[in-house]
Amino acid sequence: MNRLACDLLIALEPACLMEQACLTPDPWQARVLSSDAVQILLLCARQVGKSTVTAAMALYRAIMWPDSLILLLSPSLRQSGELFRKVVALYRAQTDPVPIEAVSSLRLELANGSRIVSLPGTESTIRGFSGVRLLIVDEASRVPDELYFAIRPMLAVSNGRLVALSTPFGKRGFFFNAWQNESEWQRFKVTAADCPRVSSDFLTRERRSLGERWFNQEYLCEFAEPVDAVFSLEVIQRAITPEVRPLFNSSAGG
Ligand SMILES: Nc1ncnc2c1ncn2[C@@H]1O[C@H](COP(=O)(O)OP(=O)(O)O)[C@@H](O)[C@H]1O
Ligand SMILES: [Mg+2]
Repeated sequence: MNRLACDLLIALEPACLMEQACLTPDPWQARVLSSDAVQILLLCARQVGKSTVTAAMALYRAIMWPDSLILLLSPSLRQSGELFRKVVALYRAQTDPVPIEAVSSLRLELANGSRIVSLPGTESTIRGFSGVRLLIVDEASRVPDELYFAIRPMLAVSNGRLVALSTPFGKRGFFFNAWQNESEWQRFKVTAADCPRVSSDFLTRERRSLGERWFNQEYLCEFAEPVDAVFSLEVIQRAITPEVRPLFNSSAGG
């Protein structure tokens, strides 16, 4: 297939990017790829294919929209490298794609002016980027809130898209808070049972060795109370009522 035919096919169907790499998208992956929501949350069990599908989103954006800047943010350098390798593997599987201008261990530049940059999550590494068209935050529940609030402005001028993906990690942090906010985010929840590659035998063994709490978090996508919490979030929320004025409130005035 020549480049024009290849581009046309991908333009019609972003899922073709995965198919060319011999990966048939699972139904939820196909829904994610065809979404045009500006803010997307993927709350997923381990190993269901969330990094793979977002790598495909990144590459699709880079190939189809010249001059796009796409940032992939992960909590650590190792995870940045892993996600970036998925992007490169998908790219290499395409037939005659837009040629590469430059590639390094965490950065891919295409001849159409698009760039995909994978970054470990520290504020200093991300400063200086602006006009981001697509920002993907991997393992988002482990990315510190300060970092999340520092990166949001990078999308402002470009009206860029934000995709945050994660397994849960306690009832805290921006990812948990965003998950509560249905109106602002398109949300996808994918448990291990939704993934055809995870067998029920494996899950039975994992439940036995992890115990209920960790199994529910890692495979059923349940936000657990932080291990060090004295009171549950529900108990605290029930205890806060508008009729009772807080004891220490700067506006109370005395
Ligand atoms: N649709 C698919 N078909 C076949 N294999 C897939 C598919 N999606 C993901 N995989 C494979 O499943 C494994 C886990 O995928 P990954 O994206 O790393 O999962 P996660 O980020 O959710 O832990 C990888 O080996 C990946 O190639
Ligand atoms: Mg992953």
